[in-house]
Amino acid sequence: MTFVDYANKYSCMSKINYICQSCEYETAKWLGKCPSCNSWNSFESFEVEKKTKMKKSCLKISSQKPELLDSIELQSIRRFKTGVNEFDRVLGGGIYPGGLILIGGEPGIGKTTLLTNILSQLSSREEFRTLYVSGEESKQQVASRARRLGVNGRNFFIYNETSWQSIEEEIDALNPKILVIDSIHTIMSQEVQSAAGSIAQIREVTYELMNKIKSKKISCFVIGHITKDGNIAGPKVLEHMVDTSIYFEGDQLGHYRMLRAIKNRFGSTDEVGIFEMTENGLKEVQNPSVYFLDESIQESFGRALSCIIEGSRVIIVEMQALVVENKLGSLRRVTQGIDVNRLAMLVAIIEKYFDIAISYNDIYFNLVGGIKVTNRDIDLGLIAALLSSFYKRKISSKTIFIGEVGLTGEVRSISQCDKKIRELEFLKYDKIITSERLAEKFSGKTSLKVVGIKNASELLYTCFEQAC
Ligand code: TYD
Ligand code: MG
Repeated sequence: MTFVDYANKYSCMSKINYICQSCEYETAKWLGKCPSCNSWNSFESFEVEKKTKMKKSCLKISSQKPELLDSIELQSIRRFKTGVNEFDRVLGGGIYPGGLILIGGEPGIGKTTLLTNILSQLSSREEFRTLYVSGEESKQQVASRARRLGVNGRNFFIYNETSWQSIEEEIDALNPKILVIDSIHTIMSQEVQSAAGSIAQIREVTYELMNKIKSKKISCFVIGHITKDGNIAGPKVLEHMVDTSIYFEGDQLGHYRMLRAIKNRFGSTDEVGIFEMTENGLKEVQNPSVYFLDESIQESFGRALSCIIEGSRVIIVEMQALVVENKLGSLRRVTQGIDVNRLAMLVAIIEKYFDIAISYNDIYFNLVGGIKVTNRDIDLGLIAALLSSFYKRKISSKTIFIGEVGLTGEVRSISQCDKKIRELEFLKYDKIITSERLAEKFSGKTSLKVVGIKNASELLYTCFEQAC
């Protein structure tokens, strides 16, 4: 439903309605729990007058007429690069003038730092006058961070304001080329009477903001909060309206951060950008393939390597398992980076088809570097790491395990294997243990030794020289 549809809909109502702040479910009376998304205390009332006001402000009669596709002249708009390669990569090659880019992420993940980094590159160019609207931090805080991260201050305006009408005036007065709103949840329009961050406010401010930047060809970055489920807080209409929606994710305790496009009108959503948080802001990771690998550790018990694809990049993941005899009674299964239920399933497969009593042990599992993986291509490596710890046998650090393991223990083929094999050749690995089908496909076509196994239980003799 478009914004105008909403405005139309609300204008017909003659009484107060209630709307869920997380999913936009509407009801005529207040409810404690939303029947649609199950969130508690999320309903807010809507007054009729303000909806009528919204309608007036939005329903402008357009002078445009329908035009034939062939008669429309195309304009060639040049995008510009921000200079932060990983960010440009996620955007599909840079920003368009008039582009509205939403950046969402957990509190403290580094959204403000990322934007300051981008602006430190852009503001050094005379033509990119920047207006940074901060509704969260004071101008002193923004200035001190910006100076520390090397932002050129001659072209950079900081504005501590939360009223949209005042912001609009300053945009008209300053005519910036880059606008930052940190964050959209703190900005309020006087046209709407509900609190900042409410659905009505976000919808109104985004709509007005979009009109303004499109007409003035300002490139705009908007920071958005996310809910505890990991979605951008507020109405979905926010994500519908923006040109690009990007999530910044990572492990708060670790240093890596990943930028992922969820929606992109300027390019594909296949790319990810990988950064490292340092004391001097975010740094681009130069060699992401081996970033999550602790190369100082060579062979050790419970360590196995696998690889996954993130965006268009191959990333080697290092798995560490610790299988120890349980002495306290209640069994412990602790995982970091993978779903604990996936581990439980693979442990059950080992127990059943390998004939090893492994489930009576405590199991700790970790993916090095703080990366989180849901991709099942790492299943075989996960089993190898568990067996390596259980048998106290080392696995060569030049061996990579790739393959999904099914409930009968069968090893399945993986997608994008060509790309993985080329990268592993480049990184000078020796051996891949994978599905039989993949081994047949690559036999004689690669310098790597590709060992194919039908069932994961064959790992026992291919890696651990046990009778199978
Ligand atoms: P911030 O960008 O304020 O997060 P967000 O805007 O997403 O809430 O980043 C906050 C964290 O980043 C903070 O906990 C400290 C860390 N940080 C660094 O490690 N180095 C730096 O140079 C900066 C600016 C922040
Ligand atoms: Mg911030």
